[in-house]
Amino acid sequence: MYRRIACLLLLTGLAVLPVATAQDKKDAPPRRPDVIYVPTPQVVVDKMLDLAQVRKGDVVYDLGCGDARIPITAAKKYGVKAFGFDIDPVRVAESLENVKKNEIGDKVAIKQQDIFELDLSKADVITLYLLPQLNVKLIPQLEKLKPGCRIVSHDFNMEGVKPQKELTITPDGGREHRVFLWVTPLERDRK
Ligand SMILES: C[S@@+](CC[C@H](N)C(=O)[O-])C[C@H]1O[C@@H](n2cnc3c(N)ncnc32)[C@H](O)[C@@H]1O
Repeated sequence: MYRRIACLLLLTGLAVLPVATAQDKKDAPPRRPDVIYVPTPQVVVDKMLDLAQVRKGDVVYDLGCGDARIPITAAKKYGVKAFGFDIDPVRVAESLENVKKNEIGDKVAIKQQDIFELDLSKADVITLYLLPQLNVKLIPQLEKLKPGCRIVSHDFNMEGVKPQKELTITPDGGREHRVFLWVTPLERDRK
């Protein structure tokens, strides 16, 4: 039920995305984002990084980084290098501003990029808050990760790939949030 609601919220947002006018053309993404921006609550961010067992020397990638709260938290809490990628220049500008505010530019890099065109080979930890079908679309890239990489996803599973762990958290007075963990090499579901 909660997953259907989360999915619906993200998809509904896509349907009502404003059409770009001439003056915001320079801020327009090179193509329409595959999912709208909805931030992960900080308590869920903390749980995702904890579940991924982020450790010294790891490189963390957040695919669709929004305001960069995940890479910033990873860098500040675990002292690791972290990268945030987003296709939307507005999100990239917001992320860069947050990196600056947190004085963490030596550890966090933000790039405007389409996540489906990324080489993920340098990542040890990948964080996702996308949509179920986008997680599935990422499988060919995730299958190329080195062994021992951890992938954590907020709310959404990855059909066809068995998670190693999944848990639910309910922040005070809020809805249920799911967190899924996979460790490479990915284990395909046998049906
Ligand atoms: C649901 S938000 C998650 C933000 C952040 N990861 C968090 O958990 O707080 C998804 C983000 O993905 C970005 N996005 C959508 N499609 C993308 C694509 N193809 N490449 C890169 N970013 C994309 C959106 O602009 C949005 O900021």
